[in-house]
Amino acid sequence: MAKILAIESSCDETAAAVVEDRCHVLSSVIASQHDIHEKYGGIVPELASRRHLECIGPVVTEALERAGTTVQGLDAIAVTCGPGLVGPLLVGLCAAKAMAWQLGIPLIAVNHLEGHVRSPFIENPGIELPAVALVVSGGHTALYLCPEEGVYRQLARTRDDAAGEAFDKVARFLGLAYPGGPIIDRISEGANEHAIDFPRAVMKNQSLDFSFSGLKTAARIRATDMGLAHGNEAEAEGSPAVRDLVASFQRTVVETLVDTTLRACRREGVTTVLLAGGVACNRRLRRVFAEAADRNGLTVFMPQPAYTTDNAAMIGAAAFLQFERGLFAPLNVNADPNWKLGA
Ligand code: KG4
Ligand code: ZN
Repeated sequence: MAKILAIESSCDETAAAVVEDRCHVLSSVIASQHDIHEKYGGIVPELASRRHLECIGPVVTEALERAGTTVQGLDAIAVTCGPGLVGPLLVGLCAAKAMAWQLGIPLIAVNHLEGHVRSPFIENPGIELPAVALVVSGGHTALYLCPEEGVYRQLARTRDDAAGEAFDKVARFLGLAYPGGPIIDRISEGANEHAIDFPRAVMKNQSLDFSFSGLKTAARIRATDMGLAHGNEAEAEGSPAVRDLVASFQRTVVETLVDTTLRACRREGVTTVLLAGGVACNRRLRRVFAEAADRNGLTVFMPQPAYTTDNAAMIGAAAFLQFERGLFAPLNVNADPNWKLGA
């Protein structure tokens, strides 16, 4: 039974996990940095790098301890090499290289987006391909066709903001805390999601691409008109008008994501959907996806919430595809902040 230690540090989570035999997660440790970025309303790359440096050692040690293993029990070290912020990526990559070199075991370079796509397999190792994967996070919103293991074809991407970024920005100008996605999810429960009819971007030429910046601007204009912009955090959370506004915004994002994914499935003749990335934590999105899948004869797989936002267990699960094929990275492999997934 092979054991891989996986390291993830592409954004604002320092994470390490030990994964055995593809999908069996022995431990998954995540040190989040939301506290240091909150007052800036977004990630400050230099602060993120410094916090990763402080956390990487203790996080790796804890992952090994919780897995009940030592470094001698490892068969490979996997690490996210991109896409992401270059400083944060380099912290994880340097730690992984040092460990692989010192232990004399292979290094595996993992694409962060492939990690997200593989996250639903952690609890459902038997998912059969082909599938359409929707990766919807703070940095990315994209659809991929996965015809077979390890092969990805990008079907759509966002032309501007990622969905998670739009959640965070709408939250920010209403005075809600960072990251805004989970807060909007929470305060939308029970609010009137039909209070406002926001516009939805329509692409030309049957394109499946996304665009959320118009919706974000429409929400900002509405918030300003209603005197809701830049409120105080506690008041904003409790305000019925704010809750209706964010619930309506959330409904629009969810409808766009679900409708576009269904169109992609129809176009590609695929009946399996993988839902991944931080926004896949959103309860409304999960509910609407499950209902739409039922109605349309599709099967949708979504990871448990802990594996939707950035984590290293998904990086370990993705690394096994390369481990099994003996595809190892040289010790001079570099971080690639813009590494694209697939063709
Ligand atoms: O996958 P992730 O941890 O990092 C990236 O790779 O970007 O995703 C983080 C994003 C943030 O924008 C956050 O606001 C959003 O996921 N998010 C949510 C929820 N939980 C996290 N968005 C909507 N509803 C949620 N429950
Ligand atoms: Zn991510």
